[in-house]
Amino acid sequence: MNIGVAKERTAGEQRVALGPDGIAKLVKGGAAVFVERGAGTAAGFPDGVLEKAGAKLVDAAAALYATSAIVLRVQPPTLDEAKMLAEGSVLISSLPAATSGDLIRALAARRITAFALEKVPRITRAQSMDMLSSQSTVSGYKAVLIGAGALPKFLPSLTTAAGSIPPARVFVLGAGVAGLQAIATARRLGAIVSAFDVRAAAAEQVMSLGATFVASDLVAADAETKGGYARAQGEDERERTLAAIARHIVNQDLVITTALIPGRAAPVLITKAMVESMQPGSVVVDLAAEAGGNCELTKPNETIHVGGVTIIGAVNLPSTVPFHASQMLSRNILTLLQHLIKENALTIDLTDEITKAMVVTHDGVVV
Ligand code: NAI
Repeated sequence: MNIGVAKERTAGEQRVALGPDGIAKLVKGGAAVFVERGAGTAAGFPDGVLEKAGAKLVDAAAALYATSAIVLRVQPPTLDEAKMLAEGSVLISSLPAATSGDLIRALAARRITAFALEKVPRITRAQSMDMLSSQSTVSGYKAVLIGAGALPKFLPSLTTAAGSIPPARVFVLGAGVAGLQAIATARRLGAIVSAFDVRAAAAEQVMSLGATFVASDLVAADAETKGGYARAQGEDERERTLAAIARHIVNQDLVITTALIPGRAAPVLITKAMVESMQPGSVVVDLAAEAGGNCELTKPNETIHVGGVTIIGAVNLPSTVPFHASQMLSRNILTLLQHLIKENALTIDLTDEITKAMVVTHDGVVV
């Protein structure tokens, strides 16, 4: 079976869908892996490394798409790329909810079976295929680093001949995968860390990382849906949450926000008035920027300054740690492929819980 690894052309995207370990395992399993020349370079996997792992390099995207039974990508293909896919082939790629209808229809028209990586079900069996978790881990880690970089202060406490410096205060809003990694990273850098989430299970996880949980009276037993995600808060809950955040935020140096509700705009947890109450020099890193932002003032992919407070609308942070983000993504995709390919034959079983959740187009139909 021919598996193709496409070169990403989306501005700012440095990751690659499959790294050398994944290539070597697939080749060992009997597949032929074709890689578009230069596909791994930005991630730190030059052509030579991928070739050594067993990949065959291809010069033109069209040739790669035409010969591959399965095409692997990080970002969705363009319409032109979708038209290059061999009819009836498989595409494994991120296809976020905002993917254009034209692209989805073009995939269906070519009878492509398209797997959306972000639709992986959050079940134990699919944990090692879960790119939401692997890439959120990268985002949470990097959010702390860019926040620390923008802060005019140290994170740790220091005792020096030039005086003693107290540790910075870091507040994390939303303690899912990204939030927990942000907490762990900020703790490693020596900050005093606090966090808030609406889900009761998050409180214990926050405290196990050595952070304090803010406003534990505001978590609701029914805040977690069956899938493990948070539900949207009611008006009364929201008001009490905002009041608690307003009280806590005034003396925080770095605030990292990660709160998301599937299928909805991100909840606004930091208002303009709260930003105005913060100390000059403090920093907000908003990981929910692309979903509308947890801070009312966030502008996606921009850094703005309001009354001395820096607000960073962080976008696609996994791509800024491309080596390890690609390595983790590659492992996620390899496990998915191993789930789909048995004895060198591909099975698309729409009754399978994982396949059913991830397939977006199949057999000419938008599923
Ligand atoms: P997410 O990215 O959808 O949301 C981030 C966090 O924001 C969540 O913890 C959510 O509770 C929180 N949040 C939402 N509204 C909020 C508000 N108004 N105020 C404060 N926080 C708010 O979540 P993520 O990181 O994708 O994790 C979702 C769930 O999935 C978690 O329960 C996690 O444990 C679970 N999970 C399960 C996996 C599995 O079994 N395979 C793998 C990874 C995660």
